Amino acid sequence: MIWFALWREHKLSIAEILAVFPEGKAVYFSKDILILDWIDKDEILKKANSLWWTIKIIEIIDSDILDDALKSEWKFKYWISTFWDKKNLKEILNTTKKILKENGVSSRFVNKDFTNLSSAQILWEKLVQSWTDYNFIFDFDKKYIWKTIWIQDIYNYSKRDFNKDRDMQTGMLPPKLCQMMINLSWWKNIYDPFVWLGTILIESILMWNKKVYWSDLNQTMVENSRNNINNFAKENHIVLEDSDFIKLNAKFINESNILLEKEVDAIVTEWYLWEIMTQKNISIERIEKQKESLLSIYDKFFLNLKNIDYKWNLVVCFPFWEINSKYIYFEEVYKIINEFCDIQKLFPDNFENITTKAWSLLYKREKQLVWREIFKLKIKA
Ligand SMILES: C[S@@+](CC[C@H](N)C(=O)[O-])C[C@H]1O[C@@H](n2cnc3c(N)ncnc32)[C@H](O)[C@@H]1O
Repeated sequence: MIWFALWREHKLSIAEILAVFPEGKAVYFSKDILILDWIDKDEILKKANSLWWTIKIIEIIDSDILDDALKSEWKFKYWISTFWDKKNLKEILNTTKKILKENGVSSRFVNKDFTNLSSAQILWEKLVQSWTDYNFIFDFDKKYIWKTIWIQDIYNYSKRDFNKDRDMQTGMLPPKLCQMMINLSWWKNIYDPFVWLGTILIESILMWNKKVYWSDLNQTMVENSRNNINNFAKENHIVLEDSDFIKLNAKFINESNILLEKEVDAIVTEWYLWEIMTQKNISIERIEKQKESLLSIYDKFFLNLKNIDYKWNLVVCFPFWEINSKYIYFEEVYKIINEFCDIQKLFPDNFENITTKAWSLLYKREKQLVWREIFKLKIKA
């Protein structure tokens, strides 16, 4: 069994893991952890670097800390983290050190103040590479010892997430959310028909996809995206296998020669967020107006995808709003989706209370009033 330690937005983390490892059987989840069974550790390690919403991956070990320590040529450096029953950590650390000493092993635990370590500390101490990151998990009276087999490289991660030239006020799709959406789509040759600055496609290239396609109603956006994508590939020494773009109103997606002629196998996109709303200007009337203009695009878009018999995955996010601490969902859009699409389930049936009624995922950034609702869809046959 393999355990995944989850990010705070645990539903997004779980959906991503299940999409990346469809062969695993999900046996348990909580706010902190997902447990997968029937999955090979090597398989996990091969794909783990494409996970963006997992903090670390751990597996049960047969050996004990003492066995490992006796094999160690140097002073044995280790750390222990506990899940659930955190108050025992001090006792565990002290007892372990004592037992090691009694067995002639000189050791040092890295935990300071008898607390769990952060990912940054684990990376800094290189504890995963030396396989001495132990996790104690207490489940009522049972105790399991696990070792960390993979940890999110948060240095690289924050570089990728924050070094982007972006302005939060424009409501740009956060890279981490792009990556999750790409993972949900099975990350292949992606087409974004509302490309704007090319954020989704740049993230897709970072995830080793070499074919990217885009269109937008606005010619300047089509060209800006071309520059952004080409510059990005050049700076990172990535040679794209194919790329193509056109100026196109997404209502007439059936006229896109890209969709008709290229090997597009997923549409990943954020629908047009009409405008950014602030506390000062948000109102029901404005929201209704936005909905109306958006619906006129969505309606045609889906109908025309159906007309060309589009078979592949679609991962899309729609807006919904918060006004006076109440959420206004885009219920009108559910009707369109239900008419033209089969909504793909993101969680197994035995996972209760995790999905929304509409089988979507919700994402919010603090202080924003426009939220995102993410769907994985297939056009009805
Ligand atoms: C909010 S942006 C999309 C966000 C983007 N995916 C990102 O990287 O964060 C909206 C884009 O949709 C484009 N757009 C608006 N209406 C459109 C339509 N009918 N067809 C195609 N593109 C459209 C706009 O020009 C703009 O570039």
